[in-house]
Amino acid sequence: MTETTLHKKKLEGKLAIVTGGASGIGEATAHLFAKHGARMVVIADIQEELGHQVANSIGLNHSTYIRCDVTDEEQVKAMVEWTVKNYGQLDIMFSNARIFSRLNQTVLNLDLLALDHLFAINVRGMAVCVKHAARAMVEGHVRGSTVCTASVAANQGSTKNTDYFMSKHAVLGLVRSASRQLGEHGIRVNCISSSVIATPMACSVSGMDAEQVEKACEPHASLKGVVLKVGHVACAVLFLASDDSGFLNGHNVVVDGGWVD
Ligand SMILES: NC(=O)c1ccc[n+]([C@@H]2O[C@H](COP(=O)([O-])OP(=O)(O)OC[C@H]3O[C@@H](n4cnc5c(N)ncnc54)[C@H](O)[C@@H]3O)[C@@H](O)[C@H]2O)c1
Repeated sequence: MTETTLHKKKLEGKLAIVTGGASGIGEATAHLFAKHGARMVVIADIQEELGHQVANSIGLNHSTYIRCDVTDEEQVKAMVEWTVKNYGQLDIMFSNARIFSRLNQTVLNLDLLALDHLFAINVRGMAVCVKHAARAMVEGHVRGSTVCTASVAANQGSTKNTDYFMSKHAVLGLVRSASRQLGEHGIRVNCISSSVIATPMACSVSGMDAEQVEKACEPHASLKGVVLKVGHVACAVLFLASDDSGFLNGHNVVVDGGWVD
């Protein structure tokens, strides 16, 4: 492989949707997609001001914001159809929107209304995005790539946040099933699982600032001297979205520095 190949833009001319792109991992990934030559990155989120800011900072020639609530299938369907109508085809879906448990969701105290609300976004919303992206790719004969955001929470249990941990296990089931079903169309479906990153949401939920969150996580990574940032996850998503991972399907790529409990 030549140096030119190693440094080439990985998404030249591609059309991508990033749900939850107004903040955190989604925002960093949207920027990286554009840097790697994506023709258009559609930021789909419910945070209008932040969503517009992200699209503006990427540049409106290469990014746009659409208000889309992933709990509403009609909105997701319309957002995907609008994207295909305006830009020709959909190559990449990064399904990443989520919320975190706000309550102490132990099994004994499980608030099922809160669980339903969380599942509507983290599980149902994820499935709806995979479904409509897949339909657009199949109809457009596009050998596309879908990447979902799971979490290290998908591989372990927890003393609290039961609903969130359940929801991330469900993402693995979705990705493993969808990848089997869509492989015959040349469509790949994979997911990414990171450990805790000090995004605005992680800080607000934990009541800690970014430095405190990073300090609390440090003992858990067997890899020392590196702090997990959104950019690390964005690079892994780029890998899964691009042809570099052309034969990966149904995988859960874990970005956790070798997490030890
Ligand atoms: N930050 C972490 O520590 C961490 C660790 C592991 C996995 N993850 C996963 O990474 C993904 C991104 O997390 P983040 O930390 O960047 O979070 P974040 O809160 O910064 O971003 C999530 C985005 O999703 C959007 N969103 C929420 N509900 C929505 C809805 N109904 N419709 C559309 N958009 C909606 C929010 O507005 C927000 O912009 C999530 O799937 C999360 O579970 C995060």
